[in-house]
Amino acid sequence: MTGDARAGAAEPDPDAVKVNDADRREPEGGPPEGTWVAVASGEAVAPGEITESTLDGADVVVWRTEAGVPCVMEARCPHQWSHLAGSGAVEGEEIVCLTHFWTFDTDGRGWKENLAGRRDRKGDIEAYPCREAAGEIWARRDPVGGNP
Ligand code: FES
Repeated sequence: MTGDARAGAAEPDPDAVKVNDADRREPEGGPPEGTWVAVASGEAVAPGEITESTLDGADVVVWRTEAGVPCVMEARCPHQWSHLAGSGAVEGEEIVCLTHFWTFDTDGRGWKENLAGRRDRKGDIEAYPCREAAGEIWARRDPVGGNP
């Protein structure tokens, strides 16, 4: 177990890191080519905010971490299906489902912290590749890591 891992917590799988956050923001760039779909205006999603949208007919939430990283993911929590636009909140660099407090990072990895502060892995949520360019937040339904 590494130095900062908490007792009992599963080690994050380094291969599960699917998106480089630095690649998500290109405020000076034009619209991305390919199958990207604009899901929200960049101005409409301030740091720490969540909004709902659709991506190729699927319900998604568009949110931004407190550091400003945009994220597009499935709208429904994988635990008991709460809609994260109404039952979610951004806490730091994660989105929290306020129904039972599962948290998800920008790559969709799920966690829950117990009363002792231990973070345990929970179910993951689908996070879609997303980019910010030309004033819009863009996403695509291909699995994260697909070629833009
Ligand atoms: S429904 Fe989201 S944590 Fe239970």
